[in-house]
Amino acid sequence: MKKQFLVLSLCLFLLNCQNNHVKSENPSSASPTTFSGSMQELQDTLTRLLPMVVDVQQYNAPANQKLIEKDVKRLAVLSKSVTHSSATAAKDPSVTFISKAFAEDVDRIEESLELGKRDFARYGIINMTAYCIECHTRTSTGPSFRSPQLDQTLKKLGGLERGEFLLATRQFDAALNEFSQFIDDKLKSRGDYFSLDKAVRYSLAVTVKYLKDPKKSLAVVEKIKKAPGIPYYLKQNVLGWEVAIKDWMKEKPSKDRGPAAMLKRVREWIDRGQKLQIGMVDRGGDIYYLRALSDLHLILQMNLSKEEMGEALYLTGISYEAVRDISTYTLHENYYESCIRKVPHTSWSQRCYKNYEESVYFGFTGSSGTRLPEDEMKHLLELRALALPPGT
Ligand code: HEC
Repeated sequence: MKKQFLVLSLCLFLLNCQNNHVKSENPSSASPTTFSGSMQELQDTLTRLLPMVVDVQQYNAPANQKLIEKDVKRLAVLSKSVTHSSATAAKDPSVTFISKAFAEDVDRIEESLELGKRDFARYGIINMTAYCIECHTRTSTGPSFRSPQLDQTLKKLGGLERGEFLLATRQFDAALNEFSQFIDDKLKSRGDYFSLDKAVRYSLAVTVKYLKDPKKSLAVVEKIKKAPGIPYYLKQNVLGWEVAIKDWMKEKPSKDRGPAAMLKRVREWIDRGQKLQIGMVDRGGDIYYLRALSDLHLILQMNLSKEEMGEALYLTGISYEAVRDISTYTLHENYYESCIRKVPHTSWSQRCYKNYEESVYFGFTGSSGTRLPEDEMKHLLELRALALPPGT
């Protein structure tokens, strides 16, 4: 009897352990089985991680080191499961590009933590929301994601980060309010133009790309215009934005939502954007490019002829290149490459190759001249052979 009891309690004990094990979280190497599952867990992990990282003291507290490392490891696994999910490929091509760039960036952050480059890692984690934002604000459809945990986290963040996290979770009106408050504060204190610039760009991304609301866009721009003592460059940008928004208000909405008609309008916007974008630093064309991107992401999900596909990818590349410092940096190169591979040996692939090559050469040019690594050179030659007419 005693023996039986022992066996029984041992069994119960073991069962209990096993249960506990199952309950106590996924092993950190297992991937969620669905796209939606990966997304949910990305949000949970980032919600837990961000407050620990934004606050420098908490970030450096020895008690938090293990937790931070563990969450970053988990993010690395999750970001790869997004890249490999078949749901990713089924969306427009940008989702694939962004998910790859995201996974590479999380790997770099993980490596920096391991190497003790903690400041670099911190900066990377805080900026991770840029990837969530980029994917979630491509078009104006889709859910917003709230949770009680998220609300707790939001309270602990600074104004700009709070706006970014709200934007990443698609709470657009709340994000806009947050940025607006942040802009007011910065205009009053007349300092930190870098953050001010960022908040302005994000506000315009929300009002133009997502809310598609010229009135709200104009309100953002007028606020800057009226502020005393703003830098000259910002004033110049404001003039371009204002022209573009006022044109937008006069436009008649088009009923034809077919790819040909939509592409035609996008082409016109980009032409006008290019005219307003005088010189490398002038951001006057931003409004047109953001409007173009909002429609191009819809167009890329339609059934397109080869000709339309080539043009849509080319125009998306141009638009991302023009707004590149508010999005992940080399997205435009991905579009040019995709254009070359999808419609090789056409006029579109030639144009895409020209822009791709130029962007790559610029990227590798420093004070000691242009030095292209060998694998990059090989890659260029491969794309060139695909892009140009055979035998050139
Ligand atoms: C590669 C693109 C991409 C990236 C990067 C990305 N997401 Fe998503 N996410 C999506 C798509 C696509 C959906 C589905 C809704 C839609 O179409 O917009 C989605 C949905 C979600 C959902 C709702 C899931 C559900 O079904 O309930 C959450 C939560 C979410 N994402 C959180 C995040 C967070 C947090 C990040 C940043 C760490 C992130 N995502 C990064 C593409 C992305």
